[in-house]
Amino acid sequence: MNPKAHQPDSLPAPGPSALAQSETLAAQIRAEIAQAGGWLPFDRYMERALYAPGLGYYGGGSVKFGRRPEDGSDFITAPELSPLFAATLARPVAQALEASGTHHLMEFGAGTGKLAAGLLNALEALNVPFDTYSIVDLSGELRERQRATIEAEAPALASRVRWLDALPEQFEGVLMGNEVLDAMPVRLFVHAADAWRERGVAVHDDGEFAFDERPVSSPEDAAFLASLEIEGAYLAETHDAARAFTRTICTMLTRGAAFLIDYGFPRHEYYHAQREQGTLMCHYRHRAHGDPFVYPGLQDITAHVEFTGIAEAGVETGADLLGYTSQGRFLLNAGITEVLGDIDPADSARFLPAANAVQKLLSEAEMGELFKVIAFSRGIEETLDAFASGDRTHTL
Ligand SMILES: C[S@@+](CC[C@H](N)C(=O)[O-])C[C@H]1O[C@@H](n2cnc3c(N)ncnc32)[C@H](O)[C@@H]1O
Repeated sequence: MNPKAHQPDSLPAPGPSALAQSETLAAQIRAEIAQAGGWLPFDRYMERALYAPGLGYYGGGSVKFGRRPEDGSDFITAPELSPLFAATLARPVAQALEASGTHHLMEFGAGTGKLAAGLLNALEALNVPFDTYSIVDLSGELRERQRATIEAEAPALASRVRWLDALPEQFEGVLMGNEVLDAMPVRLFVHAADAWRERGVAVHDDGEFAFDERPVSSPEDAAFLASLEIEGAYLAETHDAARAFTRTICTMLTRGAAFLIDYGFPRHEYYHAQREQGTLMCHYRHRAHGDPFVYPGLQDITAHVEFTGIAEAGVETGADLLGYTSQGRFLLNAGITEVLGDIDPADSARFLPAANAVQKLLSEAEMGELFKVIAFSRGIEETLDAFASGDRTHTL
């Protein structure tokens, strides 16, 4: 494949070794498509593009998280934006540990390790007893970055951190995942002329990847798509992997709570008539665009989370839905303004960037409304302060 073929003009070109890595991955995916008879469902393409060992976006060595394109990064997340995110999340985490009488933490998809380091320090400062902090990440490559961050920023607590290669059958404690669900492979379906078809990936004669549609084969998919009552041209994602992940962690959780934070909507908003282009999005050097075939393995591919499906998946396991609200409401309820108040406003070098970041985390125009927090629990009877007002469970 000519790797430039899918390069929108506005995107910066990668270096030669990154391009070679992308081409190796593209060749592997093309071979898999050929072996599968010329077509792969989109979730398989996305899984390979993100997680192929050593070559996928999260499986390979690209920078990913950061503030600027010049540092080679592609996007920024809340824990990277400000330490106040972790310091505030620590409060509901502490309340959930206490309410469930548990002492273990587990984080999924820990990125650079910033959230882990911040949570460890904040829980220690709050005098919350905890024994272990386990990290589970599909990206083995990020493990060393996480270890370095935690050793630098929370050295006295680093010995409590461990990395798991497989999930335990049971877990008592508090689980967290920030922007993990949006990184899970989605399937694509296209509605046209009163019929749904599944959109997958094929290869053109010139070797380029191209979308190609097939009839919907499973009765479950057909029934779900029909239930959306879509009329006219429409592109929709479905989220089997995110739902399966939620079922797995809620089954594993025998006592405690699970917090999942991500951008997305409840089902009725997600599949709204006006969102007819779907939510699939790619990020490369802080530019967002919609072409998942650009530089496979070098760019992030993501879709918004459909929270009604996530809620159903958790509740099916018998877990309680502890709460669902916007990130802005959750952080305010959890006391982010008090956490900010701990910084002396006279210390403008610290206070101003912190206040600016809080504004980004809370603002409806930035992360405060688009991002949601959903939490499941077992063995917690009380309402957490972070869900005490503005709970939106009824919208799911
Ligand atoms: C967008 S990044 C978010 C990183 C970090 N939580 C942050 O907020 O900066 C998504 C992360 O989720 C991880 N991930 C995706 N699926 C996962 C799974 N099933 N189990 C554990 N980690 C997963 C990816 O490897 C990646 O590290």
